[in-house]
This record gives sequence, structure tokens and C-alpha cells, in this order.
Amino acid sequence: MSGMDASDPVLVAVGVTVEFGGIRALDGLSLEVGRGSITALIGPNGAGKTTFFNCLTGIYRPKSGDLFFLPGDGRTIPLTLLSPDRVTQQGIARTFQNIRLFNNLTVLENVLIACHCRMKAGLLGALLRDSRTMREEREMEEYSFALLDRYGLGGQVNELAKNLPYGEQRRLEIVRALATRPKLLLLDEPAAGLNDRETEDLAGLIRLIRDELELSVLLIEHDMGLVMGVSERIHVMDYGKPIAEGTPEEIQRDPEVIRAYLGEG
Ligand SMILES: Nc1ncnc2c1ncn2[C@@H]1O[C@H](COP(=O)(O)OP(=O)(O)O)[C@@H](O)[C@H]1O
Ligand SMILES: [Mg+2]
Repeated sequence: MSGMDASDPVLVAVGVTVEFGGIRALDGLSLEVGRGSITALIGPNGAGKTTFFNCLTGIYRPKSGDLFFLPGDGRTIPLTLLSPDRVTQQGIARTFQNIRLFNNLTVLENVLIACHCRMKAGLLGALLRDSRTMREEREMEEYSFALLDRYGLGGQVNELAKNLPYGEQRRLEIVRALATRPKLLLLDEPAAGLNDRETEDLAGLIRLIRDELELSVLLIEHDMGLVMGVSERIHVMDYGKPIAEGTPEEIQRDPEVIRAYLGEG
């Protein structure tokens, strides 16, 4: 499987340090994510996992260190100076620890909004509604429908986001992220608040997406059943740096991981 080839990373972090006042949220973090892999990032609360996503997506700027995105077309894109919009345009999409949908928009509208960041016509075209803009909008709508249909929300396209059951709101967040056609999908605790059945469905969704859309997934998650079930590689973080890295089997056997994290409960 391509995901196991460590010599072909989609993402490389080198010595990334982030400080908030006196707190070192990331402490020289270095890691690689294999192209095509489902890779998990686990660790206790406050370990710096979400901070790492915020650095990747242009929300925080590291005090030192480098982040490189290799989308697969031969380019190596430094991420640390890009704005969130530019990061999305380069091919990285994310979901948030707390659901961030537009509650009073429909399921379809939530996905369409995400598509707009990839539109070529821009604001002027949208105002003039010229033929290229109209064609792009039609294509976006078709693509959004197709994604929703394929990934389990085809029956709810006209439902308001707030009326979806919680598990489907989480699903919609993921589908919305896909609308930007990412090469790297970042999921921040996608199973939070889900019941066992919904978590199982989520595992299926993550695998299906990875297999069908030729992307890589980096997953922050506390649900160890999900992590061990879907990941090919796992990085364990504590106090802003990795303390272990390996396959699910290796991580479950690692004494330091058990002491720092798995042992807690
Ligand atoms: N914007 C911020 N301002 C101040 N401290 C922050 C900020 N974001 C994160 N932190 C701190 O950085 C540390 C890591 O947080 P976070 O990345 O959210 O951890 P995790 O996602 O692993 O639970 C915590 O001590 C947290 O309080
Ligand atoms: Mg977090």
C-alpha cells in the first residue's frame, strides 16, 4: 500500500515550535505523513494536536520550524507563510473539533460555499454572471450533489444543516471539506459525540474517501477503536512533541505510550 511508503510523504514537519505566552504548545515537532495513508495523531488533551492543524492551515504561524506539503505533482509547498485561503487552494482541507456548519443553510448550500474557494471566475464573474461563471456554478452544483450522494447525504440535500442528526452533521463537515478537492484531509476528533454505530459508519466513510479520492488523511482522535481500526500509521504526541510512532500494533505495545496515554483510561 502506498501509505506505508515513508519515502513518499505528502506532508513533512521539521522542528515546528509554537509558543503562547510561556506555554510551548509545539516543541520542535517533526513528523511525516505518507502519501495515500490514513495516519493518526493521538495524545492527551493539551498535547498540541489541534495546534499542529492550526499551523498547517495558516491559522497560527510557528515561532520556528518548517512545514512542507507535497501534493503529488512534483511541487514542495512551504506552508508556514500561507493564509488559510491559500492553504485550501493548495489542496489541504480540514474539519474542526467543534462542528462549524452554517446551521441555517441547507446541506447543499453548506457544500457549495466550500466549492467557491476553488472558483476561477472570482467575485467579478459572480457579479457579472457571465457564461464562464454560470458554467462553473453548474459544475460546482453537480460535483456537490455527487459528493453528497456518494457519501451518504443524498437524501438530505435540501434539509437545513441544523436539522440533521449529530452524526450526519459530522458527516456533512467532512463532505464539505471534500468539496475543495483536497489532496490532504485533516480531521480533528471526527468521532467526538458519536455513538458506537455512528463511529463505525465514520470509519467506513474515512476508508471509502481515501480509496476513492486519492487523498491522504491525517486524523486526530481519542476513540482508540476508530484509531486502531482505520490507521496505518500512528504518531503519539505528549507535551508538544512525538513520543512514539508506528503501526497500530506497535503503538498498542509501546510501554511509553501506555504510560503516557493509553494507560490513563
Ligand atoms: N490560541 C491559544 N492561546 C493560548 N494557548 C493556546 C492556544 N491554542 C492552544 N493553546 C494551548 O496550547 C496547548 C495545546 O493545545 P491544543 O493544541 O489545543 O491541544 P490538543 O488539541 O492536543 O488537546 C494547550 O496548553 C493549550 O491551552
Ligand atoms: Mg484538540
